[in-house]
Amino acid sequence: MGENDFENLLRQIVSPDRVPAEVWHRLLTQLDDGERESLALLARKVAQRHFGKGVYVRALIEISSYCRNNCRYCGLRCSNSLAQRYRLGKEQILECCREAAALGFNTFVLQGGEDPQQSDEWLADVVAAIRAEFPDKAITLSVGERSTGGYTMLRSAGADRYLLRHETANEEHYSFLHPQTMDFYNRRRCLVDLKSLGYQVGSGMMIGSPGQTVEHLVEDLMLLDRLQPQMIGIGPFIPAAGTPFAGEKPGSVDDTLLLISLLRLRFPRALIPATTALATLCDNGTQRAVLAGANVVMPNITPLACRSKYAIYDNKKSDGSESAEGLRTLSEQLENIGYLIDFSRGDYHL
Ligand code: 5AD
Ligand code: SF4
Repeated sequence: MGENDFENLLRQIVSPDRVPAEVWHRLLTQLDDGERESLALLARKVAQRHFGKGVYVRALIEISSYCRNNCRYCGLRCSNSLAQRYRLGKEQILECCREAAALGFNTFVLQGGEDPQQSDEWLADVVAAIRAEFPDKAITLSVGERSTGGYTMLRSAGADRYLLRHETANEEHYSFLHPQTMDFYNRRRCLVDLKSLGYQVGSGMMIGSPGQTVEHLVEDLMLLDRLQPQMIGIGPFIPAAGTPFAGEKPGSVDDTLLLISLLRLRFPRALIPATTALATLCDNGTQRAVLAGANVVMPNITPLACRSKYAIYDNKKSDGSESAEGLRTLSEQLENIGYLIDFSRGDYHL
């Protein structure tokens, strides 16, 4: 691509105007290695302008590996007989929060499958207990699709943020990835509800999921533009044993890094994590993501006996820099590329 061409595309994605599909398409398909590198360089400069050299950390607590859903890609899908199941109780979750607080974390992320035993009421009680004990910490939930009433209850109990990836913006592709019981429009409803209830909302998609085309990714980017989420989580698809997609090939690391850079340029202040899926697929995944414009890492603080059971995909990394015990490793890895851990809450600011 000529230099002028490249600059012209970049101008369009940083402009406040809607980005034409063709621009995204060209950026996703026509950049050579050198241009991808220039894009990453620009993306990390933008991240540094807003966040300095700090990378926010969130303590990740995986509260249940039970799920009523049957997403075709996920190792925790209800029909996967290979999945090992556990759920944490209220006291165990509070214990994780205490441990996280002692390590210096200021955000707790409660993530889990859609476990019918962890009802809205039950979870609201847990959130209220965390809120009472830790008035200043941020509480993030990532527990799937719920009713408007459920989201309202959890917000009133003290939850500040909610992660719910849209997974794919294309209806047909959505139906290919999910069982018939899951509805594309209900997921959209959830995201709209969460926004209007005042949650800081995280969305996102897998990169390279089975059946995904470049056009789908363009639709994803255009949906994110409409949704304007405060957080955007993306990671490569990784096959999971016992699922219909067990034999599919994983998503591309380079494409994931390219998408991180494009998202950073389009959403300069967004909180973009270096995801575990990326760190699972390649060495130095966290560092590479930060150098591409990511600014969040979510170390795992789930009790060790349960951690390996939360297997949404194969060989999921949960040690070293992906673990709360490995904060020193993470800190060293970040220092090696000129960054450092930022322990503050890391809210979204306009
Ligand atoms: N590979 C990568 N990511 C996955 N997720 C679920 N299964 C997989 C997989 N096999 C992602 C989904 C979900 C998030 C919790 O994990 O995007 O929203
Ligand atoms: Fe359940 Fe989430 Fe896995 Fe779907 S992706 S099966 S909702 S844990």
